[in-house]
Amino acid sequence: MRFGVGWDAPERRGGISSGVSIAVARRDRLPVRHSAGREIIVTNAQTPVGSEAAELLDRFFESGRAFLGVDTPLLCGAMTWVSDPKLVAAVCNAGAFASLAAGNAPPEIIEQQVEETRRLTDRPFALNLITIAPAFRSQLDLLPRLRLPFVVFAGGFPKEPEIRFAKETGARVLCFASTKSIADRMLRYGADAIILEGMEAGGHVGHVSLTVLLQQVLFEVDERVPVFVAGGVATGRMCAHLFLMGAAGVQMGTVFAVSEESCAHDAFKMKFVRANARDAVSTPQFDSRLPVVAVRALRNAGLEDFGRLQLDLIRRLDAGEIHRAAAQAKVEEYWMGALRRAVVDGDVAQGSLMAGQSVGLVNRIRPVREIVGTFVREMGRELTRLSRRLRPPAR
Ligand SMILES: Cc1cc2nc3c(=O)[nH]c(=O)nc-3n(C[C@H](O)[C@H](O)[C@H](O)COP(=O)(O)O)c2cc1C
Repeated sequence: MRFGVGWDAPERRGGISSGVSIAVARRDRLPVRHSAGREIIVTNAQTPVGSEAAELLDRFFESGRAFLGVDTPLLCGAMTWVSDPKLVAAVCNAGAFASLAAGNAPPEIIEQQVEETRRLTDRPFALNLITIAPAFRSQLDLLPRLRLPFVVFAGGFPKEPEIRFAKETGARVLCFASTKSIADRMLRYGADAIILEGMEAGGHVGHVSLTVLLQQVLFEVDERVPVFVAGGVATGRMCAHLFLMGAAGVQMGTVFAVSEESCAHDAFKMKFVRANARDAVSTPQFDSRLPVVAVRALRNAGLEDFGRLQLDLIRRLDAGEIHRAAAQAKVEEYWMGALRRAVVDGDVAQGSLMAGQSVGLVNRIRPVREIVGTFVREMGRELTRLSRRLRPPAR
């Protein structure tokens, strides 16, 4: 089966130093100010946080920082057509981490994009490969030349030799997991870390909520392997709680798709700004004879038409007017190029407006640096609040 959304247009693809300890380690790089007798650390994401918050952030960021080699273990997940060198570099230069989206781009375009990203930032970033993209094999073959520090496999399960191959190029490998069995399999195959993604997320999704996955997977493996969690997150306060639960980092997509640096069409961004959480729905499947890969996107005319197409095909299947294979092909073809139409051309009526339920928390277009800085401040504030609440009352 070929799942076309967004991968079918090869012509274009393209301490913090929150922390006291890190601030001390890198005093040469990080200005430290004093205010009203209280030390304020100015982070490399230009985020001042108090020293108590800084200490807590240092503690909870430790494993994610060590694994990713960044100051702030927040990840901007790859978004086909959106995650280009400019966005990736903006996120990395703000102290966080990002993945370049390979989509279905031919290897020469990916090579150019990696070079361009390296020109824009000297920080580490990942390449995101979609295992079911038609160009996947040729993209994988490119890895030894690129010598990237991180590779993320998405869109299906990579095979064990593919993970090994990526690791042999010197990369750390992260694999998506949307169920416990997938997570177990990816770890067995040698993944260095897991991106645990709940059904609340934007783009291709599974069917299990992040709340359940946290209990089934994060709580089981967080001591053994870094687990980055994703899906429906768009506030620093929530991120703080996910770190407390054991996450090594938090991945977000929707909130960065609406950033100033995102190349998405203004009409696409404005749809996000105006949308409510409940507008981001998972593609319906009406009949097991016509399997549909679930994609979470904003409801629009294209999605309504897709429902009508399926109902019509089911009627024709029942009447013996169409073969199953031909009907399935029509289902698969429907979304071909649809993400590009929405992101690049601004066709918000018929294109695919992939978005997580977190869209309900996004109401402004902001620069990446401000987004990352706000997350850091909110996390610091929440961790400080909780640590004070947990302290025994003064006698
Ligand atoms: C427009 C869009 C395109 C996406 N494309 C990809 C992709 O190409 N590869 C991938 O691994 N994930 C993709 N995702 C998922 C994101 O990387 C991320 O995991 C997800 O957005 C997290 O959930 P959130 O949207 O609630 O923040 C996409 C998400 C969006 C919103």
